[in-house]
Parts: sequence; C-alpha cells; structure tokens
Amino acid sequence: MSLKRVLLIVGGGISAYKAPELVRALDKHGIGCRVILTQAGSQFVTPLTLASLTKDDVHQELFNLTHEAKMGHIELSRSADLVLVAPATADLIGKVANGLANDLASTALLATDKPVLMAPAMNVRMWEHPAVQRNLATLRADGVHFIGPDEGAMACGEYGLGRMAEPEAIATALEAFWYKASADKPLRGKRAVVTAGPTLEAFDPIRFLSNRSSGKQGYAIAHALAEAGAVVTLVSGPTALNDVPGVSMVRVESAREMLAACQSALPADIFVAVAAVADWRPETRADVKLKLKGDVKAPAMTLVENPDILATIAQPGPKRPKLVIGFAAETHEVLAYATAKRTKKGCDWVVANDVSGDVMGGESNRILLVTAEGHQSWPEAPKTQIAVRLAEAISAHFKTSPA
Ligand code: C5P
Repeated sequence: MSLKRVLLIVGGGISAYKAPELVRALDKHGIGCRVILTQAGSQFVTPLTLASLTKDDVHQELFNLTHEAKMGHIELSRSADLVLVAPATADLIGKVANGLANDLASTALLATDKPVLMAPAMNVRMWEHPAVQRNLATLRADGVHFIGPDEGAMACGEYGLGRMAEPEAIATALEAFWYKASADKPLRGKRAVVTAGPTLEAFDPIRFLSNRSSGKQGYAIAHALAEAGAVVTLVSGPTALNDVPGVSMVRVESAREMLAACQSALPADIFVAVAAVADWRPETRADVKLKLKGDVKAPAMTLVENPDILATIAQPGPKRPKLVIGFAAETHEVLAYATAKRTKKGCDWVVANDVSGDVMGGESNRILLVTAEGHQSWPEAPKTQIAVRLAEAISAHFKTSPA
C-alpha cells in the first residue's frame, strides 16, 4: 500500500488530459490517490479512465447518495495527507479564494484540514488577469502551495505562462513538500510497527472465533506516530476502519498471520502491540462447512495456544526493536497485573487500561503507563488523545536515549 495518499481534484481545463499520467507518476513515487473529477474536468478525461488507474471510485457529485453513504464529502476531504488540485483552473482558484462551495471539489477544498497544493493551468491572458493574480495572492496568504504553471506553447495556440507543471515534476514536488514538512518532526527517521484490532481464528470456511476489539486505539496510535514523523506499518486484524493515511497497512486475519506480518515488517525502532490477539485457535480448520453428523449435535472443539506476538518480538536479539510496548486490558488490580506483564512479556513499557467499563469498542480510554522507572496514570481521554500522548512519550524517550 502507498505510504502517502493525496486527494486529487481534477479541474476542467485541457490539461486534465494529463490526469491519468499524473496518477501514474504519483503511483511510481509511492503516492496513492482518490479522485474528485469536476463536471468540466469530465469533458476532458473520463471517470472510467481515472477509476481504472486508481482502482477506486471517482467522486463527481456533491449530493451522491451512494458515495455519501460510503464516505461523506467532509471525510473525503480529510482522508488523504494532502489535497492536490491539478489542473487548478481560474474557476476553482477563484472559488476557493472567495470561500465559495457549490460543487464537490470546492466544498472539499473548503472543508479540508490538510495541506493544499495547486498546479494551475490556464491561458496566459487568464493567468495574467488581475482578478486571477488577486485570488492567487489570497490563496498564498491562506497557506495554499503552488507548483507551476510552466511557460510554453499552449493548446489554444498562444505562448506564455499557463501550462500545467509536468506530472513527474508534481510528484517530485509532493515528495519534497513532505520531506520538508517532516524535517523537524520528533520521530523522523524512526520506523514503527503497530498491531491493532482483533484476530480471527477460523474453524471452517465461514466460522471463526474472535473478539470485540474495534482497532480504534491501535489505528489512532499508528496515525499519531506517523504524524510525529515515524515510518509506520500497521498490522491489523479485521476491522471496520478505513486505512490510515500515511501508514503502510497490512491486513491479516489470524494471530499466526499477524506474527508473520510483524516479523517481515522488522527491523523497526518501535513496536506497539495493541491488537487483541486471540489466545487460542481451533486446533483444526475444516476445508468444508462443518455439518451436523448423525446424533452428534455439537462437535467438540479442541483449542491450541496461539503464538504470543508481543513476547516473540520482545525477545532479545539483533532485530529486537529498541522500544517494545505492550498493552494490558485488565478489569481489576490493573497496576499489579501490568507490572507483572512487563516482566513476563519482556517488553519495555506496558500501557494498561481498565476495561471494566466500555473501553472495548468505545471512544475513550483510561491509561496507566508502566515503565522500568515506575508508573504514571493518565486521565480518561478519547483514544485519539491517548495516542498523541503516547507518541509524545515515545518521542521524549528517544530524545533522552537516542541510541
Ligand atoms: O497476555 P495478554 O493478552 O493480556 O497481553 C496483552 C498484550 O500482549 C497486548 O499488547 C497484546 O497485543 C499482546 N499479545 C500478543 N500476542 C498474543 C497475546 C497478546 O501480541 N498472542
């Protein structure tokens, strides 16, 4: 999976014909994309071409029930690391500069909380028009970034500034943008592997044992570590959550698959085991659906122990991450059990949570962080805030012991 994702908004100019090439250039640079195609843009490039290249739906209408039910336009505007407008037409530039939102593209641009990079493309006279220049100045002041336009021969026969920057140059500019943005991030240069969600242990092709873990805490931690500059791999059991932008996702089912995925994601500096791994799995997995046999109404099931992923990764050795963090979900005597778990599993920190309430699947968490130095308790907070706080603690740890 791509490490970075952009929301590509294709405006309605002749340069929109370069959009498929742009999608491919982004892909070559490891940048995935979702596409919004404006009405005018669809006169120059077909939604089918872009959908085939991105292997995803192309979003075109603000009030599309199917798309809105799957991913609302607000979420769409925030589901990527950056919003790229290419070509950015005089019309789109004017709308955003003046806060107008009357279609999906302009609405997403107003609703996003992500950086916006525009690659303008228009006729040279339009580009030089004081109204366009005024709008560009407004957008620059609002923090919008620009690449191009280039100078050259135009489709309309004129010559001058107004050609959209070449797809390869846009992809390179995005890489440079992210490199610069991550320069002062505390976990820059660090690699992290996070496990999240439940595991699913099948005993026939359609039945399995699992648990109620939603994956929310693990996904939030992967996101917070990526925001702090780390290169993150999230190994996730089956969840209903969307991929985390900027994080390399590996989706697995069973504990054994999760362990294998974690091991192949090593070496890493940080390992955070948040997944609620099933302790046992059915000893056998039938190739066909189990059926009632004669008068044996309920077949007996033998369970065998699953590998302990955390304990395995925490074992001393050249590949052991420098900071190994486990989670402990306890209903009572949280500190005593968490302290014991730290030693038993061989990890450096244990993040213990009291699951006597509705933590599993809920939005908030109350944490006790147990380290070799002692423990600290954090007040109840949303899982996203717990994640940011943990990422801060990890950053502080590497600052004081950078080796
Ligand atoms: O032993 P317990 O399941 O309470 O330990 C919880 C911690 O161990 C969590 O960090 C969980 O992700 C990890 N774990 C694991 N593999 C297992 C069981 C638990 O990584 N098989």
